[in-house]
Amino acid sequence: MNLAGKRILLIVAGGIAAFKVPELIRALRREGAAVRCVLTTGGAQFVTPLTLQALSENRVYSDIFSLTDESEMGHIQLSRGADLIVVAPATANLLARMAAGLADDLAATVLLATDKPVLVAPAMNVRMWQHAATATNMAILQARGVHVIGPDEGVMACNEYGPGRMSEPPAIVEAIRAMLTDVPGPLAGRHVLVTSGPTHEPIDPVRYLANRSSGRQGHAIAAALAALGARVSLVSGPVSLPDPAGVAVQRVETAIEMLAACQAALPADAAVFAAAVADWRVAQAAGQKLKKQPGTPAPKLALVANPDILATLAAPGPQRPHLVVGFAAETHDMLAHAKAKRQRKNADWIVANDVSPATGIMGGAENEVHLITAAGIEDWPRMAKDEVARRLAARIAGALPVK
Ligand code: C5P
Repeated sequence: MNLAGKRILLIVAGGIAAFKVPELIRALRREGAAVRCVLTTGGAQFVTPLTLQALSENRVYSDIFSLTDESEMGHIQLSRGADLIVVAPATANLLARMAAGLADDLAATVLLATDKPVLVAPAMNVRMWQHAATATNMAILQARGVHVIGPDEGVMACNEYGPGRMSEPPAIVEAIRAMLTDVPGPLAGRHVLVTSGPTHEPIDPVRYLANRSSGRQGHAIAAALAALGARVSLVSGPVSLPDPAGVAVQRVETAIEMLAACQAALPADAAVFAAAVADWRVAQAAGQKLKKQPGTPAPKLALVANPDILATLAAPGPQRPHLVVGFAAETHDMLAHAKAKRQRKNADWIVANDVSPATGIMGGAENEVHLITAAGIEDWPRMAKDEVARRLAARIAGALPVK
């Protein structure tokens, strides 16, 4: 009961993600919080006041001009009676109204009148999320101190995919706990090392060998571990992703640099090796750009093996993290290869996934993984990479010995 006695005013705006709100209310109540809901006109198209009322065991407020509401519980009282205002789902429209300081319905008026902390959980179509107007509104709100959770990446109701899905209720509850309580997260006091992204192995000053890893899964894992209170060191190859909030990021290019950065980050309680490290590098990268010479044959690239970062850090020794998690991206015989890899590299767990092009996993927003431990194989359903990250982070928290 991490949220015992906490009072949450939950503003529900009009998005398909409102279907997750009943689950959010239930989760908050389980944690001991009191929940009062404000439902916008749009929100009422997706979830009924009766549902929210039954689950929150409080009446639901919608109408700013209702005399009884204004005399019994006006917009100022709604804000006064809360420790935190949560907007979930926060639509592009409501975020724009917040940024502009409009007070054109009860939700916007409460948000304008409040001096309480505010957490928004955006949910919208990916193009609306990526539109410059929404980006500007988010920057304005964050500069004013509004907290943000999500949105997650994944397939959307409109069949597009990308960032725009409302974060799952457990993640929203975790963000609320972090804002409202001193209760430490389950990974507080722990240090976790994460690798992410590809590596770039130079051929000459302008060319390199690389792979298609986007770093999405590794970055999501770093963010999920930090959300549970861990101190996270993320060693990342070249990616076009923003640094996850609250994570110390060390950017590297090559496998050799990645290994050095990982070793420098030790000791760690746990390590997750999600990077797609190049297996080979060019033995002798040219100091100058290789030139095409008419009449001479194409250059031959001699390759040498890169160090295996996972195997190096998982080898027995005083610096070995208590829990070492590797990844296995395979295109065939996935489970057999992954099981062999767990033993060969001395990893405790391997997260195996099929990266055949048809799966759309490499570079995509979703993942379908199998967790291989000493106890056997668990098949996880296909889900957003953020959700895989959260589940894995929770499992890591559960697997570390009590301090
Ligand atoms: O051997 P393979 O590349 O399939 O192994 C995958 C796992 O090993 C991943 O966890 C990856 O991050 C890690 N790895 C590594 N250093 C390498 C190659 C792989 O840490 N040079």
